[in-house]
Formats: sequence, C-alpha cells, structure tokens
Amino acid sequence: MILAIESSCDDTSIGVMEIKTKKLLFHKKISQELEHSKYGGVVPELASRLHAEALPKILSETKEFFPHLKAVAVTNAPGLSVTLQEGVMMAKALSISLNIPLIGVNHLIGHIYSLFIGKEEIKPMMVLLVSGGHTKILNFNGINDVCEIATTLDDSFGESFDKVAKMLGLGYPGGPVIEKLAQKGQDIVKLPLPLKNSSDIKFSYSGIKNAVRLAIEEGKYKKEDIAASFQKKAIEHLVFMSKRAIKKYKPKNFAIVGGASANLALRDEFEKLSNEFGFKLFYPEMKYTSDNAAMIARAAVEMYNKKMFSDYKDLKIMPRVEFKKC
Ligand code: KG4
Ligand code: ZN
Repeated sequence: MILAIESSCDDTSIGVMEIKTKKLLFHKKISQELEHSKYGGVVPELASRLHAEALPKILSETKEFFPHLKAVAVTNAPGLSVTLQEGVMMAKALSISLNIPLIGVNHLIGHIYSLFIGKEEIKPMMVLLVSGGHTKILNFNGINDVCEIATTLDDSFGESFDKVAKMLGLGYPGGPVIEKLAQKGQDIVKLPLPLKNSSDIKFSYSGIKNAVRLAIEEGKYKKEDIAASFQKKAIEHLVFMSKRAIKKYKPKNFAIVGGASANLALRDEFEKLSNEFGFKLFYPEMKYTSDNAAMIARAAVEMYNKKMFSDYKDLKIMPRVEFKKC
C-alpha cells in the first residue's frame, strides 16, 4: 500500500491505495473553503495553519495501515510553498520513521490520475487541465512522459470564475456559484473572445474578466445574466483553443481534469466536440475533480512501479513547475 498526502492549496487530504489493484482503501479530505470564503480567496498563512491542524487528525485514522505501507507519497509541486511544506514535512517524517521510500508527486500530474482511480491508465490522451492555478492542454503518455501544448498567458479558467464571483459579491470559490447562477441567466452581455485573431494555441482570461468588470460598472445587467454571459464566453475560449489542438494532434482520447472539470456546461460543450471529432471523452468522477489525495496516491502507484523515489533529505518544494513543450 501507498499513503499519499495532499496540501498544495486549501484542501487537506490523505489517501491509502493498494498498489496492485489501484483501489482506494482510505480517503479523507478536510476542505478550508469556508474559512477562506470571507476573504474572497485563499490566505496562505491561514491555509498553512489549518493544514497543520488537519493533517495529524487525518493521519491518526490511518494507523492500521502503517505496517503495510511500501511508500509514502506527497504533493511537492506546484502550489503554495507554505502549504506544500506542511504535507512534505509530514511525509518526510513518515518516510524516516517507517523506513519506507518517499515519492514526490506533481499535483498537475495528480489531476490527470484522478481519471484512473481503481483503474489502469489510458494513454496516449490529450488532457485539458482546468484548475484554480492552471489552464493547460497537455499530451499525456505516461507518468514520466507529459508535454505541454498550451498554457495561459494570465489568469486560469477557474481563477477567472473566482474573480468574477468576487466582483459580484458571491464569495469563494467562484466556480460552483457562478455555474448555478448562470443557469438562471441569459447570455446577453457582449464579451470578447480572447486571442481569436492569433494563430497560436494559448489561453488568456484577463480580457473577459475586464469586460465583465466594465459590464458590472455599467449597472444595467442582472447578476445572473452577467454570470451566464461570462461562463458562456469563458467556455467558448476553451473550446476554441482545444479545437485547434485537436485538429493539430488528432487525439483518440481526450480528458478534462481539475477543479473546473466539475462544470456541466463545460462538459456539454466537449461532448459536442467528441461527437464532431470522434474522440473518446473522459472526466474524473465528480468527487475527484477538486483537490484530493486519492489522485496523488494513484499517480504515486505508477511512480512506485517505476522506482521514481526521492531522498527525504533532498525532496524540494517547488511552487511552480514547467512541462516540456510538445
Ligand atoms: O483543482 P482545484 O480544486 O484546485 C487547484 O488545484 O487549483 O480547482 C479549483 C478551481 C477554483 O478556481 C474553482 O472556482 C474552480 O476550480 N471550479 C469551477 C467549478 N468548480 C470548481 N469552475 C467552474 N465551474 C465549476 N463548477
Ligand atoms: Zn488542483
């Protein structure tokens, strides 16, 4: 078995997975959303303190697995350094005291493995990663073979939902509230489609966000119409750029992962693309879309099988990571 720890942002989570079957034997997550919501975003110092409280609480529930652990895994990149630190410290202490190897997992690759909990991996696969910190199109060809087709020049898709929600006074995280409000509204606010005249495959959300700010300041639109128009355009931009990548690389498998992959309007648009281009479409189970340790454990199983271990004296925290370009 492998025990995995996730503390890269505002969710504290620990999971235990059986190596052979990839089955989850234990999984618990404590979310800090409520504590951060009054600030309209994640406050790193507060997040770090809450992880320090929650991690030992969850870990104490996993003691029965300790004699069976073959490795301990932890998210070491990317994320907030003060919160990553909490998980990494605990993982190092476990690695030393139980005398088992340590595995440092890239959180973004973890999101890809949210597709494969209890299952074998499927590859090659084109992956649209939409989380709070990232918007990327990746080509996935195994745990140590991931390249980047596109990324964002500024805000991420999820972050733009958080910022628009904040402007509308709807709290944090913005994704689920905007999605709900959008269902009651109409797409009547004119917003720009970013980068449509450039031939590159890349994302940008600052233009839509600023146009939304101006529309709010105009004061003539209802909140639900702003939400509906914003969501429509934000998704249209994802579809527009994904189409370019799909035409170029012609994937047979395509997945959407990350916190924002929970968005049903987004899933609907990609169902249409799947019919148009004939690829197989995948998303994680709803409960594994947002940050969790199950996906970290699943990625760690692949790393364990390939002996991708880190020395507990050397494993570093990396707030940012770069993928090789495809
Ligand atoms: O992957 P995740 O849980 O954390 C990070 O790794 O960042 O993603 C969180 C992000 C937040 O920005 C949140 O607003 C967004 O995912 N999100 C959504 C939805 N649910 C969560 N965005 C759009 N629609 C949703 N239904
Ligand atoms: Zn995440």
